[in-house]
Amino acid sequence: MARILVLHGPNLNLLGRREPQLYGQTSLAAIDTMLRQAAAEAGHELLSFQSNHEGELVTWIQQQGAQADVLIINPGAYTHTSVALRDAVLAVGLPTIEVHLSNVYRREAFRHHSYLADVARGQIAGLGAYGYLLALQAACALLRGEIGT
Ligand code: DQA
Repeated sequence: MARILVLHGPNLNLLGRREPQLYGQTSLAAIDTMLRQAAAEAGHELLSFQSNHEGELVTWIQQQGAQADVLIINPGAYTHTSVALRDAVLAVGLPTIEVHLSNVYRREAFRHHSYLADVARGQIAGLGAYGYLLALQAACALLRGEIGT
């Protein structure tokens, strides 16, 4: 049994109510429940966390990263600003999958750059809550050694 971490950044606690035309109608609690169930079906444990604070996100990665096998992360707006989150991901050295509900490449230019993209194993953007499920499937495939480096 592996441990999969799922980390959600700022404002994602408002999912379902926040700009639903961009981010969809599904709440964060519903996403986490769906992911936990899918992980359990694959025989894995899933731990999730959301914070609006950059330092809390960094601390959680540091604390949980040592006892985990893979990280799925939607850093929200910190995607485009946070060297600290990038460094935390590098420090724990977990294979990381970056998720965005919206297609950031169809939006403002400042959303086109991600401080995580080149340290992540892969990125999924624009597929709404379904992107998290795809990330979980990819995480399970990574754990089975089915995706090359
Ligand atoms: C987001 C995209 C970011 O640009 C934005 O700041 C978010 C959500 C997404 O999931 O589409 O908060 O990460």
